[in-house]
Amino acid sequence: MDRILVTEKIGAEGLAALKEVADVDVRLDLTPDLLMEILPQYDALVVRSQTKVTADVLKAGTKLRVVGRAGTGVDNIDLNAATRQGILVVNAPASNSIAVAELTIGLMIALARNIPQAHASLQAGRWDRAKYSGWEVRGKTLGLVGFGRIAAEVARRARAMEMNIIAYDPIINTERATQLGVTPVTLDELVAQADVVSLHVPLIDATRNMFDARRIGQMKQGAVLINCARGGVVDEAALLEALESGHLGGAALDVFAKEPPTGNLVQHPKIVVLPHLGASTSEAQALTAADVAEGVIDALAGRSPRYAVNAPFIAPEEWGIIGPYLSLARTLAKLSAQLLDKPAKAYQINYCGELVEHPTEPIKLAVLQGLLETGSDTRVTPVNAPLLAKERGIQLSETRQPDQGDNYTELLQLIVTTSDGEQHTFGGLALRNEPHIVQVDDFWLDLVPTEAMLFTFHQDRPGMIGRIGTLLGQSDVNISSMHVGRRSPRGAAMMVLTLDEPMSSTALDSIRQEDGIERAFAVVL
Ligand code: NAD
Ligand code: MLT
Repeated sequence: MDRILVTEKIGAEGLAALKEVADVDVRLDLTPDLLMEILPQYDALVVRSQTKVTADVLKAGTKLRVVGRAGTGVDNIDLNAATRQGILVVNAPASNSIAVAELTIGLMIALARNIPQAHASLQAGRWDRAKYSGWEVRGKTLGLVGFGRIAAEVARRARAMEMNIIAYDPIINTERATQLGVTPVTLDELVAQADVVSLHVPLIDATRNMFDARRIGQMKQGAVLINCARGGVVDEAALLEALESGHLGGAALDVFAKEPPTGNLVQHPKIVVLPHLGASTSEAQALTAADVAEGVIDALAGRSPRYAVNAPFIAPEEWGIIGPYLSLARTLAKLSAQLLDKPAKAYQINYCGELVEHPTEPIKLAVLQGLLETGSDTRVTPVNAPLLAKERGIQLSETRQPDQGDNYTELLQLIVTTSDGEQHTFGGLALRNEPHIVQVDDFWLDLVPTEAMLFTFHQDRPGMIGRIGTLLGQSDVNISSMHVGRRSPRGAAMMVLTLDEPMSSTALDSIRQEDGIERAFAVVL
């Protein structure tokens, strides 16, 4: 059974789903060193934002196949390191958008009406009605920085409060923005116009310290800043200065560069602060845990998780069709690597017939995986295959031929050009959920590949098959099936024997020495 390590508190239903398929250990007490010490035992790791999944942590996870992030932001996970190691990262990005959007609106109103300050004042025994007079959000301009899931939900709610809404996002769907009553603007325009600036970007290199002293200085006099995204997006020292100088009218922060935060910023009278509560609603936590559990379970079962951060997603309805082709693609690639005795210069995948109508990116990744894992001890998965292929200089192109397929409704071909310019074609298709090899160059056959096989290229003549069978028998290798393709009677032929166990190099040598055998290859998939 797979083992899953959960290092932060997640919703009970998600945890129960994980326990149905794996041994789950919940360890909320781990230091980074202890995490690295026990991680080698686990196939999956589930975290929220507190656990730092660094390159060193990932390196310690020698069995790790998937990291589940119970939440949206994946800035606590070294994605490059995970990708390099072939570890899938899944998150739950659709689960907490409403919770964060509602909190954002709450913080905006809290800032406008001094709710936390007035509350604290009354609890301290004062009755300061004049001091805590505020302003209305109606008619004010709300500037959303980043216009993804959360920002769109904030916009929906702000619209009901009759605000003017502008947004900056380098990848903005103008039509969707217009439907939500949002005007796309540049970042310069946004800070110049907004009374309330609300941040909804991921923490990535391009957004780190995005709101530094210069950008904060460009905000309107008396404007307020809300950050429910990530701490590193705002320069906290610059923010404190802008509050102290009176340039900003207030700020509300749910997130901090270092959590929990230290320093004077959290004490400032014009600031409203929360201990990273954006996603902390019962509804969001239940959804988040369920979504991340589904992703981790799918990944462990070899299916395509819906919210994979570093791999393409295959919709469940496509999975039935594409799934067997992934296994076929890997097989064709491994076959090509073992049947050619010359170095390959370039590879071409040819998708024929109805196959062109389906997503082909996963098939390409499976071909790369098959090519790379042949003769390598590096763990290769669809996640790190593109990176490793780039480093190895593997040239791979793709072609699509909807009207072709050599009498098959679908055909997947891998065409290899060797260093001397020869071309070799390996073809197959998925039938009844099983990969079938149907083509090796101009030999056509129908073979369900097995782990160990013998391929011979020889002249078709009486007695040849019997002699090879006898040689294998003498080496105690059992044949499970035989497939022959030939150009013409007594002409060039190819035979494939599927074997119950791999054959020895001595047995292969003796077959190679048989009269009439041109080439023979022991293939192990
Ligand atoms: P999302 O991916 O749907 O949206 C992010 C948007 O930011 C995208 O549209 C993207 O194009 C845009 N963006 C990227 N770089 C940008 C840049 N340089 N300038 C402007 N826009 C840029 O993500 P989401 O679900 O809306 O979440 C946004 C962030 O909120 C998350 O990355 C996470 O860090 C944070 N978050 C915080 C909490 C919390 O508890 N406070 C909870 C959930 C998410
Ligand atoms: C997120 O990115 O989803 C949030 O940080 C939520 C969390 O993990 O608390």
